[in-house]
Amino acid sequence: MILDLSLKGKVGIVTGSGSGIGKQIALTLAEEGVDVVINDIDEGKIKRVAEEVRSHGVKVLEAKADVASWEEVNSMVDNTLKEFGQIDILVNNAGVGAYGMFNDMDRKSWDPDINVNIYGVLNCCKAVIPNMIERKYGKIVSISSDAGRVGEQYFPVYSGAKAFIIGFSKALAKELGRYMINVNVVCPGTTKTPLIGPLISAEELVKKILKVYAIRRLGEPEDTAKLVAFLVSDVSSWITGQTISVSGGYSMI
Ligand SMILES: NC(=O)c1ccc[n+]([C@@H]2O[C@H](COP(=O)([O-])OP(=O)(O)OC[C@H]3O[C@@H](n4cnc5c(N)ncnc54)[C@H](O)[C@@H]3O)[C@@H](O)[C@H]2O)c1
Repeated sequence: MILDLSLKGKVGIVTGSGSGIGKQIALTLAEEGVDVVINDIDEGKIKRVAEEVRSHGVKVLEAKADVASWEEVNSMVDNTLKEFGQIDILVNNAGVGAYGMFNDMDRKSWDPDINVNIYGVLNCCKAVIPNMIERKYGKIVSISSDAGRVGEQYFPVYSGAKAFIIGFSKALAKELGRYMINVNVVCPGTTKTPLIGPLISAEELVKKILKVYAIRRLGEPEDTAKLVAFLVSDVSSWITGQTISVSGGYSMI
């Protein structure tokens, strides 16, 4: 029997869905019948993805907003409620990562990692939760990273910011469970997206990376998107406060 996710008619915001994993999450949710808010900071990317998502016959709202900005996130959420009247799903996917040794980093280079990966998640959760509490229904999934579980050398601030998402989501899951709101975290491993484009074009480096993966291939955006679709459905309604890796066995904790 095929797993029936029953997502038709739900409304979901996917942040950073102009590219990579977020784009695939938006497409997968649309295939399941979800009306999707395509958010990004890049208008061109939003337009391209929105067109593809619309081809699945769902409604789409194009929402250019920087998740690090409280004002822009609130205006995105207000517009979503005006357009659709409800928010069932929030996928906090937008993320950035600065590469380098911590000791070599200058103070200002940390800001994007903290602002997007931490404030972005806080802003979006805070803005959607009142509607979810009122309706006693909601699904929040945040995309962290295996870096947040094991600490990735050369990504020190990113690793710390992604670990924040895990602790925050557990606490939020405890607070919101009584309103039938599920809060979970997904941690991808190295996945083929523009974010890591230069890295995966170096064949020798890929071979080296794959040595620490039990399943010796890089991730595809679909790997993460399928798990997200499961977690935002009622099939997983008794799963909350969990952190699940989609990383071919890179981290097993
Ligand atoms: N690709 C990987 O190997 C990998 C591994 C682990 C975790 N992740 C996480 O998965 C998520 C998606 O990564 P990806 O690889 O698809 O990256 P990507 O760069 O392909 O896509 C990220 C999108 O987010 C948008 N974005 C950036 N800052 C934003 C902001 N302030 N507000 C709104 N949108 C913003 C970008 O414009 C881009 O379109 C991130 O949170 C990333 O940390 C990725």
